Amino acid sequence: MEEKCCVIPQKKILDQAYWDSQYKDKTTGWDIGYVSPPMQAYIDSLTNKELEILIPGCGNTYEAEYLLQLGFRHITVIDIAPAVVDKLQLKFAGNACIQIVCGDFFAHEGQYDLILEQTFFCALPPAMRPRYVAKMHELLKVDGSLAGVLFNRSFVDGPPFGGNQQEYEALFNSAFNPISMQPCDHSIAPRANSELVFKCRKNNQVVVHLYSFRGITCNGCMTTVTNKFKDIEGVMNVRMNADYSEVMIVSESEPDMQKLQDAIAYDANYHIEKVM
Ligand SMILES: C[S@@+](CC[C@H](N)C(=O)[O-])C[C@H]1O[C@@H](n2cnc3c(N)ncnc32)[C@H](O)[C@@H]1O
Repeated sequence: MEEKCCVIPQKKILDQAYWDSQYKDKTTGWDIGYVSPPMQAYIDSLTNKELEILIPGCGNTYEAEYLLQLGFRHITVIDIAPAVVDKLQLKFAGNACIQIVCGDFFAHEGQYDLILEQTFFCALPPAMRPRYVAKMHELLKVDGSLAGVLFNRSFVDGPPFGGNQQEYEALFNSAFNPISMQPCDHSIAPRANSELVFKCRKNNQVVVHLYSFRGITCNGCMTTVTNKFKDIEGVMNVRMNADYSEVMIVSESEPDMQKLQDAIAYDANYHIEKVM
């Protein structure tokens, strides 16, 4: 099976209307119809049924169904597409162990022990990856974990959008404590040799902030700005997104805004503003 989920050939805006239409048109090639084997194996390893668990971009959420079967009692699932969320509301009606939210993950508020990643990261435009890391850090409680499956391959067009271990480790570096990430040996056949299973724990010693950025037009300038921010005392990781419009900064304490502005003052076109 080709990992495709798109019916719109031109440049896609991956908003609520896009995802909702995929469910309405039944072009949901990612939906395997059951809990994926790597997720099942991970869930089987969990012993504490009191964990507060979030599943973002949950789709038909076979993972939540499996968690409920095993007796987990505090599950929240969120998806932006009303078409699939309406189905879930019916399916799990009256079940107090699961909260079903229709909305944007990036606007969601809460605190969780565990967040499960299953084909949500790859569904987002790559430019949102730093924002994804910052939001995951925000939503996890002290010592909370993020775990799941990521693609270990590239795609010609997306979604899905691929990646590799080196890229993911650089992205999560410092915001999360050493990531365990390895090739998945029990993927479904169409995804064989193209997935990584991972687990990482929130680094409680750092703060993660996201800023909007204006003025960069090339990779060289992006590297220069990134290095200038990295030179600021206490800064541990800086990741600018693929279209140079956002930058995530991981640091021991919140960076002084004036220091960030001073670092880019050499170019009058550059502008930085805090987002979260
Ligand atoms: C590739 S599908 C995966 C669905 C499910 N995890 C699965 O494996 O079947 C990506 C899902 O993310 C949802 N989604 C995309 N952007 C979202 C956002 N910003 N907030 C919440 N859900 C989102 C889509 O509606 C879609 O259900």
